[in-house]
Amino acid sequence: MPNDVRDFFDSLAPNWDEHSEEKLPHIISLLDRVHISSGSRVLDLACGTGIISGVLHDRYGAEVLGLDVSPKMIEIARAKYAGKDGVCFECDDFYETLFHQEFDYIVCHNAFPHFVDVERFVDHIADALVPGGEFVVFHSLGRVKLQSHHDGLGPTISRNLGPVEEEARAFSKRLTVLECDESDTHFWIRGRK
Ligand SMILES: C[S@@+](CC[C@H](N)C(=O)[O-])C[C@H]1O[C@@H](n2cnc3c(N)ncnc32)[C@H](O)[C@@H]1O
Repeated sequence: MPNDVRDFFDSLAPNWDEHSEEKLPHIISLLDRVHISSGSRVLDLACGTGIISGVLHDRYGAEVLGLDVSPKMIEIARAKYAGKDGVCFECDDFYETLFHQEFDYIVCHNAFPHFVDVERFVDHIADALVPGGEFVVFHSLGRVKLQSHHDGLGPTISRNLGPVEEEARAFSKRLTVLECDESDTHFWIRGRK
């Protein structure tokens, strides 16, 4: 993983939570589609400042590990959730992380285009899930809007997403895709190991 990604998100971290409250209802309406069961072990993959880590714990009763490669994002996440049971954070590159225990769910919100090596990303998701475990890779905005956010970023920081069916094919090599759909306000790939 190039340092560009880490440095880029470190620079965004201080202002990351500015609009998080207003975005949450839409994100939650999407997360509700996963039916995460209480007590499950969930990886909030590329968690940033942990915008959804608390929701995963408070709303669905999950035991959450938030993982992100940006030290500044993780510093803010840790400060926000200090002393809270059931939510913890680790700063590491997902491509390189060796987990001590597999996950029942892996949830990745608004981060997929930053994993430019998609095959490796999918392999690591498959390796980190328990058999029967589920993943969801989603955006709470549509692809066109997402693209406009990423315009001008270099190819080591993000890539353009193709139509969701096309993107879902990369997951089918190691995982079963259960559903994929997109609209002006979301992009969604969910599947199972
Ligand atoms: C657009 S932010 C989304 C953060 C969070 N999921 C949210 O919804 O607010 C993308 C995140 O992906 C993280 N990221 C990118 N590549 C990563 C990698 N290889 N391993 C772990 N995190 C990574 C970045 O540091 C950044 O915090």
